[in-house]
Amino acid sequence: MLVSATEMLKKAKEGHYAVGQFNINNLEWTKAILQTAQELNSPVILGVSEGAGKYMTGFGTVAAMVRAMDKELGITVPVALHLDHGTYDGCYKCIKAGFTSIMFDGSHYAIEENIEKTKELVAVAHGLDMSIEAEVGSIGGEEDGVVGMGECADPQECKMIADLGVDMLAAGIGNIHGKYPENWAGLSFETLDAIQQKTGEMPLVLHGGTGIPEDMIKKAISLGVAKINVNTECQLSFQEATRKYIEAGKDLEGKGFDPRKLLAPGAAAIKETVKVKMELFGSVGKA
Ligand code: 13P
Repeated sequence: MLVSATEMLKKAKEGHYAVGQFNINNLEWTKAILQTAQELNSPVILGVSEGAGKYMTGFGTVAAMVRAMDKELGITVPVALHLDHGTYDGCYKCIKAGFTSIMFDGSHYAIEENIEKTKELVAVAHGLDMSIEAEVGSIGGEEDGVVGMGECADPQECKMIADLGVDMLAAGIGNIHGKYPENWAGLSFETLDAIQQKTGEMPLVLHGGTGIPEDMIKKAISLGVAKINVNTECQLSFQEATRKYIEAGKDLEGKGFDPRKLLAPGAAAIKETVKVKMELFGSVGKA
């Protein structure tokens, strides 16, 4: 059931668990994530980066595919279709395409401009019953061409953006997209705590969910994180399972070259990763 992310995140924040955002790349990814959410009776957010949207031939294609698949599979759990790290133009494209949620990432602008653009987009999104995420500070590393230095957010700036009425707030707390380096300093819980104190009920978003140790995830949830984004980990699971299939020569046996067979182990691996994350985030049974 396609919905905005507002209610599911409010419930998550109140219930002290987090809803997973899993990024999609194609039909297999979408199907694997939707099926897992349904099997586990968990709310879910499908994340679409601008790069992935382009890859799938445009946001219109993505929205049409997700809507149709949600219906054909009989999905009853709440599903939000969300733009990940959207530009100003990208947000308007997704609004037009029929997404149910957007992220405007204005973190690279001066705070005044971030506020001005976020404020405008909040009014447009809410007028259409869509939810909106904003960002302060930056997430380190690179995701689909979006590069961040990883500086921690200023809690006062977080409050200024939260006060605009966004539905969820991504704040840099030392988190990084992609794999974490050996010398990673860990999440700054001091920053997270200060942000939560300033923003109160606001569901906070933890990007860069791949590779964060379980104890840090649990602590982040206890300090107000209600949405956790995972992308790279599903890609790595898919890669590993597909490599095994080919290295075992399975694609050379019988009709093993059939794409439905070739992609099956990777899809099963994505399902397993999503399941493990939903269990860790505590969203199982919360639909
Ligand atoms: P990872 O690729 O590190 O899991 O990060 C995902 C993310 O934050 C998407 O916005």
